[in-house]
Amino acid sequence: MDQYAVVGNPIAHSKSPSIHGYFAEQTKQSLTYTTLLGDDIAFEAQVRDFFAKDGKGLNVTVPFKERAYAMCDVLSKRAKQAGAVNTLLMGKNGELFGDNTDGIGMVRDITHNQEQPLKDKRILILGAGGAVRGVLEPVLSEKPKSVTIANRTVEKAQALADHFGCLASSFEALEGEFDIIINGTSASLSGSLPPLKDELVGAQTWCYDMMYGAERTVFLQWAHEHGANGADGLGMLVGQAAEAFYLWRQVRPDTASLVSIMRQQME
Ligand code: ATR
Repeated sequence: MDQYAVVGNPIAHSKSPSIHGYFAEQTKQSLTYTTLLGDDIAFEAQVRDFFAKDGKGLNVTVPFKERAYAMCDVLSKRAKQAGAVNTLLMGKNGELFGDNTDGIGMVRDITHNQEQPLKDKRILILGAGGAVRGVLEPVLSEKPKSVTIANRTVEKAQALADHFGCLASSFEALEGEFDIIINGTSASLSGSLPPLKDELVGAQTWCYDMMYGAERTVFLQWAHEHGANGADGLGMLVGQAAEAFYLWRQVRPDTASLVSIMRQQME
């Protein structure tokens, strides 16, 4: 049976095995998908060993996405732009191929499942770390009217804006309302929120948090208090997995049914 795994550290609580197990059942594919605890020193050797033993594909998660990127022989355009790899597979001639499905997973969740087109929209993205870098190319591919990156450390927002051809700002200098606000800061992990002005939200504003949880995230609570609807990143988690599954198996699984099952399980 074809073998797949997710490598990261920590890894025990990864939802990827159950997500891919569900996809395999849904699409009637015969495969196994397990977890691999990544080793800080031996990560690259672990990856090579996995493929040497005929493993078919790996997902890569924190903190190894940049190291996975660095060891690839061939990279997709979106992986190159992201500077990070979350999906690995072995090419026909033994070359290690790296892709990044995080951004496309998020964009498909927003545009397909949430039915929020990004085309011609004024988009504000909060944060300028790895998570944001990973989604910028797929977001820009949707041809939004503008993309503004706001970050606590403005220099990081500026560097990304220069690279991707969009706008940068501090939180304090943001003015006027946006159509879509995407939170890509890790602030919600500690239950905090960047200093966001009320005026950023108008009657049409829709908010997306790359984080998710059983409870409404602090960012979506802020949106709710300002009258804006939105969604959390559970669909992004499932969406990036679906894109990886598609790369490996050339079959695109349905994501909406799994998101609703996982949502029920979290309650
Ligand atoms: P990730 O891989 O999750 O993107 P990261 O690369 O460490 O992690 O980036 C974290 C992002 O969250 C950064 O944009 C960070 O802002 P700084 O660049 O100024 O550090 C942002 N962030 C983290 N905690 C924050 C907080 N309490 N308020 C605002 N922004 C925060």
